Amino acid sequence: MDPKKLVREGYDAVSQRYRGDDGRSPYPYDDYLAELVPLLAPGDPVLDLGCGCGLPVAGALAADYEVTGVDISPVQVERARRLVPDARFLCADMGSLEVPEAHFAAVVSFYALIHVPVEEHAGILAKIRRWLRPGGHLLAIVGAEHLEEVADEYLGAPMYWSHADAATYRTWLDEAGFERCWDRFVPEGDSGHTLVLARRRR
Ligand SMILES: C[S@@+](CC[C@H](N)C(=O)[O-])C[C@H]1O[C@@H](n2cnc3c(N)ncnc32)[C@H](O)[C@@H]1O
Repeated sequence: MDPKKLVREGYDAVSQRYRGDDGRSPYPYDDYLAELVPLLAPGDPVLDLGCGCGLPVAGALAADYEVTGVDISPVQVERARRLVPDARFLCADMGSLEVPEAHFAAVVSFYALIHVPVEEHAGILAKIRRWLRPGGHLLAIVGAEHLEEVADEYLGAPMYWSHADAATYRTWLDEAGFERCWDRFVPEGDSGHTLVLARRRR
């Protein structure tokens, strides 16, 4: 089983069923972004890791900021380029992504790291820290409990999830050189995730 191939092909297949072209979603992205926007200045560069089809997050941010979205799924990236023409999109694996260091005022990543093999998460957090300007912010959805799961059927295609628990992310953020601002549990059905805001130490 190649988890990245499974996730890439999974989101290629379920892209429209996961999020239609109207960008409507059950998740409160406006609430998430309201935590970040006061920390940004107009025109700031923002990186959206695992940006999906670009809606609603990259679309909302592109009005005021210089947005780069990255996704492993070619179908998601093709839709994002069409749906959010004011942002730039790259088709890449966040685990091997190369972008300029100390460039971004913020990195956002919602419900995407949870699809990356957990053994890569600490390293990806360390890379995110390097991509941020000193004082720049990371706003991300990460795991709340440890999970390693392959599903035969998620919206009509096989899918893979992998994440650690909230305490482990706190440790990894500290080790990567972040100052943790806060984290909170985001319920979803009978489980949930962790929303975290952290700042690159100067
Ligand atoms: C649940 S969707 C969330 C999309 C978007 N962040 C949102 O909240 O609407 C997860 C996205 O992460 C992408 N993804 C998963 N693993 C990735 C990886 N290793 N590198 C880049 N993108 C990845 C998937 O292709 C998918 O589009």
